[in-house]
Amino acid sequence: MKRDFLTFADLTDDELRSLLDRAKALKEARNARREVRTLAGRTLILLFEKASTRTRLSFEAAIAQLGGHAITLSPDHSQLGRGEPLADTAKVASRYCDAIMMRTFADERLAEFARNATVPVINGLTDGAHPVQVLADVFTIEERLGKLKGLTVAFIGDGSSNMARSFLEAAPRFGFSLRVAAPKGYQPPPELVHPQLCSVSDSPAKAALGADVLVTDVWTSMGQEAEKAARLAAFSGYCVDQALLERASPKAFVLHCLPAHRGEEITAEVLDGPRSAAWDEAENRLHVQKALLETLVLAHERALGIGAQRSPAAGVTA
Ligand code: CP
Ligand code: NVA
Repeated sequence: MKRDFLTFADLTDDELRSLLDRAKALKEARNARREVRTLAGRTLILLFEKASTRTRLSFEAAIAQLGGHAITLSPDHSQLGRGEPLADTAKVASRYCDAIMMRTFADERLAEFARNATVPVINGLTDGAHPVQVLADVFTIEERLGKLKGLTVAFIGDGSSNMARSFLEAAPRFGFSLRVAAPKGYQPPPELVHPQLCSVSDSPAKAALGADVLVTDVWTSMGQEAEKAARLAAFSGYCVDQALLERASPKAFVLHCLPAHRGEEITAEVLDGPRSAAWDEAENRLHVQKALLETLVLAHERALGIGAQRSPAAGVTA
C-alpha cells in the first residue's frame, strides 16, 4: 500500500517529471518566502547509520517548511547500534510517523527496513545508491541548461560508488547520456550500464570532451576508509581540474555532491570557481526532497483513504 523511494525504479516517468516540476514551484515559493504547509502535522523520522550534514539539514528543513516535524536519530543514539533488530525498529518507528528516511550501509539492509516499515521509506544514501542526491543533481542540470534529454554528462571518479550507480540509473530515466571515467577495478557492473545511453572508460579526458556537465565525488566513500591509500593511488589522474573542465563544452559546469576533498577528486580552483554548481546543487536537495515527501506521504494517505481529511486543500497546490 505504501510506496518507497529506494531507487529511481520506485517512481514512474510521469512521477519523476511531476516531481521536478513541483520542486521548481516549491523553490519559487521558498524564494518568495511564500509558506506551503502541505505536510502540516506530519512527522518524518531520519535514521542515520553514517554521518551527514546536507541530508540531515535539508530533510529537517524540508519537513519543517512544509509544516511538519522531523525526529533525527544519529548512529550512536538508537538501540539499532546496540543490535535491536532492524525489522523491530522499522515496525515501531512506523507507528510514530508519516515517512522515514534512512541512511545506511548495504542496500539489503535498507530493503529489509523498508519491507518491515508501514510508512514510505526514503533512501538517504546506501553503499549502492544516493537517489535523493542525484534527483537534486538532475534538477540542477535542468535548471541551468533548460533540458535533460540529449545532454551529455561525464562522471569522473569512482564508477562503482553510490553516486555513479544512481547516475547510471537516472540517465535512461531522464534521457541524457552518461560517460563514466573510472580506473579498472572501480568501474560499474556492466548490467548497470545502459547500452545506448551510457558508456564506461578509464579516460577522464575522453569522457570530458564536449560534455555538458562534469560530475565527481570522493574517491573513498563512507565505510571504505581502510582502502583510502589504495584508492588515492588508483585514482591519481582522475582529478577534475581546470584543464579537464576546458575540454568540456564552453557552457559546461561541475557538480559535486559534497563533502569534497580539494586537491584530490577536484581542485579548489574548480570547486570554488565560477563554473561550479555545487552550492546550488546542495540547496536543491531541499526543494526536490520537499516534492518527494509530498508525493510519497500524500499518496500514502490517499491510499489509506485519509488524505482528504488531513491535507489542507488550500495548501496542496500552493
Ligand atoms: N551530499 C550529501 O549527501 O551530504 P551529507 O553526507 O552531508 O548528507
Ligand atoms: N560517495 C559518498 C557520498 C557522500 C554524500 C559516500 O558514500 O561517502
